[in-house]
Amino acid sequence: MTRLDVEKTIEELTLGEKVALTAGVDFWHTAAVDRLNIPALRMSDGPNGVRGTRFFNGIPAACFPCATALGATWNTDLLHEVGQLMGEESIAKGSHIILGPTINIQRSPLGGRGFESFAEDGVLSGTLAGHFCKGVQEKGVAATLKHFVCNDQEHERMAVSSIVTMRALREIYLLPFQLAMRICPTACVMTAYNKVNDTHVSENKEILTDILRKEWKWDGLVMSDWFGTYSTSDAIAAGLDLEMPGKTRWRGSALAHAVSSNKVPEFVLDDRVRNILNLINWVEPLGIPGNALEKALNRPQDQALLRRAAAESVVLMKNEDSLLPLNREKSTLVIGPNAKIAAYCGGGSASLDPYYTVSPFEGVTAKSKGDVHFSQGVYSHKELPLLGPLLKTEDGQTGFRFRVYNEPPSEANRTLVDELHLIRSSGFLMDYVNPKIKSLTFYVDMEGYFTPEESGVYDFGVTVVGTGRLLIDGEVVVDNTKNQRQGSTFFGSATVEERGSKHLEAGKTYKVILEFGSAPTSDLDTRGIVIFGPGGFRFGANRQVSQEDLIASAVTHASQADQVVIFAGLTSEWETEGYDREHMDLPPGSNEMISRVLDANPNTIVVIQSGTPVTMPWAHKTKALLHAWFGGNECGNGIADVLYGDVNPSAKLPVSFPVRLQDNPSYLNFRSERGRVLYGEDIYVGYRYYDKINLPPLFPFGHGLSYTTFSRSSLSLTTTPESLTLSDGEPITASLTVKNTGSLPGAEIVQLWIVPPRTSVNRPLRELKGFTKVFLAPGEEKQVEVVVEKKLATSWWDEQRAKWASEKGVYEVLVTGTGGEELRSSFEVEKTRFWVGL
Ligand code: BGC
Repeated sequence: MTRLDVEKTIEELTLGEKVALTAGVDFWHTAAVDRLNIPALRMSDGPNGVRGTRFFNGIPAACFPCATALGATWNTDLLHEVGQLMGEESIAKGSHIILGPTINIQRSPLGGRGFESFAEDGVLSGTLAGHFCKGVQEKGVAATLKHFVCNDQEHERMAVSSIVTMRALREIYLLPFQLAMRICPTACVMTAYNKVNDTHVSENKEILTDILRKEWKWDGLVMSDWFGTYSTSDAIAAGLDLEMPGKTRWRGSALAHAVSSNKVPEFVLDDRVRNILNLINWVEPLGIPGNALEKALNRPQDQALLRRAAAESVVLMKNEDSLLPLNREKSTLVIGPNAKIAAYCGGGSASLDPYYTVSPFEGVTAKSKGDVHFSQGVYSHKELPLLGPLLKTEDGQTGFRFRVYNEPPSEANRTLVDELHLIRSSGFLMDYVNPKIKSLTFYVDMEGYFTPEESGVYDFGVTVVGTGRLLIDGEVVVDNTKNQRQGSTFFGSATVEERGSKHLEAGKTYKVILEFGSAPTSDLDTRGIVIFGPGGFRFGANRQVSQEDLIASAVTHASQADQVVIFAGLTSEWETEGYDREHMDLPPGSNEMISRVLDANPNTIVVIQSGTPVTMPWAHKTKALLHAWFGGNECGNGIADVLYGDVNPSAKLPVSFPVRLQDNPSYLNFRSERGRVLYGEDIYVGYRYYDKINLPPLFPFGHGLSYTTFSRSSLSLTTTPESLTLSDGEPITASLTVKNTGSLPGAEIVQLWIVPPRTSVNRPLRELKGFTKVFLAPGEEKQVEVVVEKKLATSWWDEQRAKWASEKGVYEVLVTGTGGEELRSSFEVEKTRFWVGL
């Protein structure tokens, strides 16, 4: 790649070439113009790791803890390091652009992608995102803040209009983007799928041009979310530089025609092209060659960082009688659905094929010197466990054959056009290409052999974007080809899992075939849903078991065990892009199992994994509770490090955990209703709401315990003199002494809140405005400083003036940390002032 002279290049480009540059050519690449040495750029998701160019059958990658996990660390240095590794992973995949981080807001605990965003609060989210992006961009890789803005639910995500006041838009939803940009102006921004106040963001001039470019003075590249461009001229005029993915639906000849007819002036098209060429120059130092090969890094130092991040994200929610850390000499009984599977990430475009995973059971086994026993307790799968790893090919390899044809199975003469050997019996084919496939309609026979270990009735399940029939020894056991029903898998584009059952004999070998037809063979109604490419398939199986027998057995074992740990929670099946959860509960059976085991052994430790809050009707019974999110590759090791005290927990919740779903502020207004969702709670999102109406959640935002204790003292404030105009800066420095008063090394998170005076509008009781994390040896004390900017710390958005308002009055500063005690001080704003800008 050579550096482009941008203005000269714009002069030399033909209209057709300019138009071509404004859209992707495939799922992950922009267009090249060889004649002028303009290279294609590669981009890849995303928030949890860099998957590379293949969703289906791709090269494995590092999987990072999900964003709520990273949010729980409140550690800007760690986020910086994580960003650097993400940048290196991107380079290994030949990718110039990372499609992340996601910094939408968890309005509701049910949001399917809540796990992908750092926090319910803009200061925490924007600050962490800024440091993460700094790490990415220091490696020369472009970061993409997404989804700009108000993509806070999955239901009808393309069709829904988020009806939001300008005040809430500014103070809650734009704030993380604004703060991240202040720390690190990212090279790219991705627009949200939805409308904001009736205009799709990808054609919303006020948001893309007036706020982002003019007010915030940002000059990067704006791309659409995948298939989230809905017009030609409007999107170009509003400031959408790049339509993704290709092949284009809206640009190409339609855009050329719009320019030729002067509906889009050519200088406006040039503005879009300029941003694309500038981005090419921005990533040019990476020197990534065209069609770069994708590699796996998986270095020991990366594994160590991922383990550190996983452990640092685990929140100690309760620890009565100092039940934790566990005793490694004792034998341990491990129970639960999340013990032997690694729930390493949520579902959708954030997911990837990880280099490896460590389950909690493996993590515990690696640490314990005593025996480790296991009892299932309950299963929590939504769809049946994947059958692929239990199958063998005809030549004895684990997995199955994937044979692709242009003709359906009913045709006698079919020509095999591709054959793969797969193990995972779940594949989203969005970026699967094969030149011999003639159209989007094609057929795949997946064939493997199953030899059950136990006799019994087995359930089989088939989920498809397309059509699928599962045959066992020629008998159709599941038919998912007709009367299909909408489900949640594959970004919400798949059918529900259709099931059938058959009695099988232990030791006997059965031939299993899934006959799959690609997306166009389906009869599902796809309104409001994004269909990605040729479709997807998933097939699973499980022997029928009685839930009561499983729970009863766990209870019996728990009552006799030395120490017991339950691992329960959600997985990528329950929390996924394209689909919001229907309720806030754990999967069926889990609450009953946890409750009955706690009755049998009150000293049982409970570890819950989920990316967003879940109800815990048994919480009052637990003495020791950890919240462990989706922890990436090293998930099980990270949890075990905290369980055994090798890492002293320091994480704090980045989202409030309400007692009941009904308590959350968006309860009355979540989901699209006739094309709109009212953000009726306005600025009272998360803790702002629970504080204001004095409804304590089960576990509040910022909650988290430690194995040691801390004290905070001697708070003093230094303010700079107030000038007549708000100059940049005006720092307020809060200094205090933090001491580790316990006997273990540990980290404390100091949180600084502002309590506003009575001003002309209703305001939250307190708002987080700054934080810092400090590591302390036993007995050590440190002087800690938290710096906030006066204008950011005091302002609310005045809709009449369309400006931030810093009203005069005395503002209280509240400093909190682990444990209840608070420090207070105050400062004054002498004169009301209004401002705009970043
Ligand atoms: C998601 C984006 C993602 C894109 C590409 C979309 O479905 O909303 O976040 O970057 O797919 O995978």
